[in-house]
Amino acid sequence: MRGTILVTGGAGYVGSHVTRELVDRGADVVVFDNLQTGWRQALPPEARFIEGDLADAAALDRLFSGRPIAAVMHFAANSLVGNSMRDPFPYLGDNVSNAVSLVKAMAKHEVRKMVFSSTASLYGQAGETAIDEAAEIAPDSPYGESKYQVERMLGWAERIFGIRSACLRYFNAAGAHPGGRIGEDHRPETHLIPLALQVAEGQRPDLTIFGDDYATPDGTCIRDYVHVCDLADAHLRVLDVVDRQSCCYNLGTGHGYSVREVVAAVAQVTGRPCPATVGPRRAGDPPMLVAASGKIRRELGWTPRFDDLQEIIGSAWQWRQNFPRGYAE
Ligand SMILES: NC(=O)c1ccc[n+]([C@@H]2O[C@H](COP(=O)([O-])OP(=O)(O)OC[C@H]3O[C@@H](n4cnc5c(N)ncnc54)[C@H](O)[C@@H]3O)[C@@H](O)[C@H]2O)c1
Repeated sequence: MRGTILVTGGAGYVGSHVTRELVDRGADVVVFDNLQTGWRQALPPEARFIEGDLADAAALDRLFSGRPIAAVMHFAANSLVGNSMRDPFPYLGDNVSNAVSLVKAMAKHEVRKMVFSSTASLYGQAGETAIDEAAEIAPDSPYGESKYQVERMLGWAERIFGIRSACLRYFNAAGAHPGGRIGEDHRPETHLIPLALQVAEGQRPDLTIFGDDYATPDGTCIRDYVHVCDLADAHLRVLDVVDRQSCCYNLGTGHGYSVREVVAAVAQVTGRPCPATVGPRRAGDPPMLVAASGKIRRELGWTPRFDDLQEIIGSAWQWRQNFPRGYAE
């Protein structure tokens, strides 16, 4: 792989798995992260780490001046959907302005390739069928809106500066690296699978299901869980695409599982009970988000290697068993 890849947010959950994959394939990687939700321990020794904040324009300038960067992978963002409904400004403000600062630095230093972590949340309440890239954009939260604004800004960055980008709209990232050394450790944790595993471990008394009166077969929300290593594989594939053109892909398996199905699968994989109680709905939660991922399968030959919910949960469980307290040992 030619040139240095800059990974913003590379110490976070998805970023650390992509960094691992890049390093494993021989790439030279620099990670830039302020560690607000990321972990230094999640990084492989082969990756160079620079602690810094995207809001610091001088730090960004030093970063780009220090070495020629071939491409940027931009993961760093605030990403709590529910929190964005109470406090929208870190999303509509920081997520957008930090991406602008990053693109500004790329333009100045003539870096023309970007892979951007976008989200299925920008499709909002989109329907009862699987969602393809042509579905209506209707974000249901300031978080989803912030990702959409960055996607649009990247469109202008291409027209004005020739910066080509790949917008990858992830559905629910899940699982952990099969090596069992890195995994998901968000604080606070808001994602269903790690929360359910913490209940199975006895670290939490029970799980709250946010609403069981949705128009779905068992009344609970349906999501598409895509393994984090399959996300990493897609990032490497689109790096070649942005050599030639910009692109946008949905990243999901195409299968949806309800909250109750996930809870049952966690109990099965762990062999332990996972008690759950039903609470009120959470603002900004669409009933069903499942990807139609035919476009990336057709065009780039991407296929999820971890296509089975139990296998995805099994990899996350392996990581929890190796590191019951996550990275904060
Ligand atoms: N996890 C998911 O299911 C999911 C789904 C859709 C989209 N995404 C997007 O993927 C990206 C990564 O998600 P994640 O789950 O790995 O999140 P994460 O919180 O684990 O990782 C984000 C990383 O960015 C760093 N960071 C945040 N703000 C920064 C700043 N201003 N300057 C420097 N570093 C900063 C954090 O310290 C952290 O290491 C995010 O942009 C998120 O919106 C995630």
